[in-house]
Amino acid sequence: MADQSEEVLKKIEELRKAIRHHNYLYYVKDSPELSDTEYDLLFDELSRLEAQYPEFITPDSPTQKVGAEPLESFGVLEHRVPMLSLSKVNTEQEFRDFHRRVTELLGYSADTELEYVAEPKLDGLSIELVYEKGILTSASTRGDGVRGEEVTNNVKTIRSIPLSLFQESGSSPPLIEIRGEVIYHKDDFNRLNRQREADGKPLFANPRNAAAGSLRQLDPGITRRRPLDAFFYDLGTIEGITLQTHYEQLELISSLGLKTIPHYVLCHNVNDIVNYFKKIEGIREALNFEIDGVVIKVNKLDYQISLGELSRSPRWAVAWKFVPEESTTVLKDVVWNVGRTGAVTPVAILDPVQVGGVEVKRASLHNEDELQRKGVKIGDTVVIRRAGDVIPEVIKPLTEMRTGVEIEIEIPTHCPVCHSTLVRPDGEVIRRCPNVSCPAQVAESIIHFASKGGMDIDGLGPKLILQMLEKGIIKDAADLYFLKKADLIPMERMGDKLAQNIIDSIQASKNTTFSRLIYALGIRNVGEHLAKVLESHFSSMEELKNTPQEELQAIDEIGPIVGESINFFFQDKQNLNLLDKLFKAGVTFKVAEKAQIQELTGKTFVLTGALEHLTRDKAKAEIENRGGKVTSSVSKKTDYVVVGADPGSKYDKALELKVTTISEEEFLEMLG
Ligand code: IVH
Repeated sequence: MADQSEEVLKKIEELRKAIRHHNYLYYVKDSPELSDTEYDLLFDELSRLEAQYPEFITPDSPTQKVGAEPLESFGVLEHRVPMLSLSKVNTEQEFRDFHRRVTELLGYSADTELEYVAEPKLDGLSIELVYEKGILTSASTRGDGVRGEEVTNNVKTIRSIPLSLFQESGSSPPLIEIRGEVIYHKDDFNRLNRQREADGKPLFANPRNAAAGSLRQLDPGITRRRPLDAFFYDLGTIEGITLQTHYEQLELISSLGLKTIPHYVLCHNVNDIVNYFKKIEGIREALNFEIDGVVIKVNKLDYQISLGELSRSPRWAVAWKFVPEESTTVLKDVVWNVGRTGAVTPVAILDPVQVGGVEVKRASLHNEDELQRKGVKIGDTVVIRRAGDVIPEVIKPLTEMRTGVEIEIEIPTHCPVCHSTLVRPDGEVIRRCPNVSCPAQVAESIIHFASKGGMDIDGLGPKLILQMLEKGIIKDAADLYFLKKADLIPMERMGDKLAQNIIDSIQASKNTTFSRLIYALGIRNVGEHLAKVLESHFSSMEELKNTPQEELQAIDEIGPIVGESINFFFQDKQNLNLLDKLFKAGVTFKVAEKAQIQELTGKTFVLTGALEHLTRDKAKAEIENRGGKVTSSVSKKTDYVVVGADPGSKYDKALELKVTTISEEEFLEMLG
């Protein structure tokens, strides 16, 4: 019996070793060697053995990355070595001054060349990992530098952070503290916010906040569902290994199986660093993670020790910050923009100003309430912020700069375009123009109609639509389908070929899907996602139109507000005329029944966890009857992972590969 246990343990350890190695290749190196199926075989085998022999489960087993129970509150951890902050410089001259100070403190002349390591400065959330004998034993946030919050269970769910260190180059150090930054990639961040918007949840202001908000969750299950990543750039306490340089520290971090910041370099003099700074500033936008400068560190650890520290920052390192993405300028005017749904919102007209390398002339003021809360006046000097690709916004006025000539902003009572009296429904923060024929609303609704999520008419952008309206060749969206090439020729910058291309794409958009058409109509509160929900329940516009609000509300995800909006839309004569005209123009869409059957054609499903309402075989048959396919492992080619109770590693894989996961309920709905 003892022999058998030993055998099992040996097998378990072999499996763990192999899985760790393949995790590293996959999550850290981004170059997997196994197919997903092969990986799953290993993982499933390990899970099976651990389930059978729970006494062999260890906290660093790859199966333990799933997360623990939610906490009541975070514990506090003291850092063995304080986590310092960095002093900052903003210009080349200031950086040269830093170099001069360093060389002088080391007893050299100012023109002495010195080795530095330069790295991008990540804009994330700093953390410290503690590995004891190679096992991740705790993780904490930086906190006030001395004490941070314990986030061990959450950090364990981050896929690129190993639960145990790589040991190929000998045994692990008894203790090592590794410091770095938890980040949210920009593309994941945009995806997260789109989803939150669709779900009616508040948006994260930037990837940094999303990273912090996702890591600082009492329930590690939530953290696990967020695709966090982490890069490491510094060591705290380290036992059993002696290093000479910072560069070696970074190499050690890599060799232990963690990610270092991409693009770090060894520089030999100040000019190298100036060039590096410019290079990184140039690629900043193209990077998939947010950075706000470059960190420059004296390479030799001996030098670092003799330079020492000020109270909160070391003398041997500095953060050279990019031109800030915040600036101040004068608010010249406020104009009121009329949106597709008649929402009238304030837009700031500014004295043009450079913000993070881009000229900004207009900025958002959101709504009337925000305007009042911020208390801005025309003529104020205001702070402007631009975050990535987001529309710039006015943060606040600098009231101390007022001279007394600033003018209160008037809130309009009438539509600035059609002059109808505006209405502000109770409980809403926005005033609306009630006139559905308001030219501004018409323009915005045609722009929406043609947009990517709608009829997706290639080449037909806002500028051209506005021109067409001005020239009177269209009055509503349906008119687009009656346009001839000759109608387009008189438009600005229009050639024969372009005109033909646009006509072709308008015509091509006629064959669409039901959900695209629903979205394109611009029914209030019905975005792309809800349009799809509606498509899965209705097969014709008639049916949708004739469904009373109560019945609409019976559909999952459709609440009273959306139900009312839909009914309201179909009560409007003008909307009904538009629909009529669209169908007369030849707009067609796949009807829901057909769409459902075809929906699964070519779609690949993976089932994981226990299903409550049907057996696996039955689920498989249902999918196959509709032209879909069921496979046993998740890959990038998988379209849906159906997640039942207690899902296995396939669920993790789906999250990692960003494959759509659906619950059993959603799956049943999909089957109709
Ligand atoms: S080194 C004592 N390197 O910036 C030096 N920090 O403003 C320790 N940060 O708390 C920091 N990227 O959270 C270092 N490449 C990088 C960094 C970096 C981002 C953060 C770190 C630190 C803060 C200081």
